[in-house]
Amino acid sequence: MNVLMIVESCFGNTARVAGAIAAALREGGAQVSLVQADAAPAPAGEGLVLIGAPTHNMNLPTPASRSQARDKGGREPVTGVIEWIDALPTSLDAGRVAVFSTVTGGFMSGSASKQMVKKLRRHGVRDAERQDFQVLRTPGPLADGELERAGRWAGELVAAAVGR
Ligand SMILES: Cc1cc2nc3c(=O)[nH]c(=O)nc-3n(C[C@H](O)[C@H](O)[C@H](O)COP(=O)(O)O)c2cc1C
Repeated sequence: MNVLMIVESCFGNTARVAGAIAAALREGGAQVSLVQADAAPAPAGEGLVLIGAPTHNMNLPTPASRSQARDKGGREPVTGVIEWIDALPTSLDAGRVAVFSTVTGGFMSGSASKQMVKKLRRHGVRDAERQDFQVLRTPGPLADGELERAGRWAGELVAAAVGR
């Protein structure tokens, strides 16, 4: 199965989760193309499209929140997942779609993955699965066990995509 993975990350945590997912998918025999959102192509018939982003201000990162991340020592991508999704056709030709985000969690944390599910509905994606992974603070690190959980989730996604 071909998999397209799009990731945005300012401090590297979401990128690490994406790497763990990609490694597990490859172990399961998938051909994975893992690309940064600011340089990502549109889907081209892959069996699975995976999109990951950090949660910023309870939502997907924006130009303003990315520059807030830069002020805290993070990377500031010029564009990211929000722009990539906005540029998709209204009727997306994709197989299964799954989304994930990183969150610090707690009261009012919000979730970028929730926002992705909503946005993707406008592009004809009705059944995107989603998952959140916890970081302990804004720059990280990831909470213990999250990379392993990401790998297990990847296995479930492959099983579901193959059984589709
Ligand atoms: C500007 C900004 C706003 C944030 N807002 C939230 C938030 O609303 N909820 C939350 O759980 N985490 C929030 N965070 C923490 C991020 O989720 C955390 O930095 C991110 O998961 C780290 O991922 P990354 O290393 O891939 O950038 C925020 C971080 C920044 C920089």
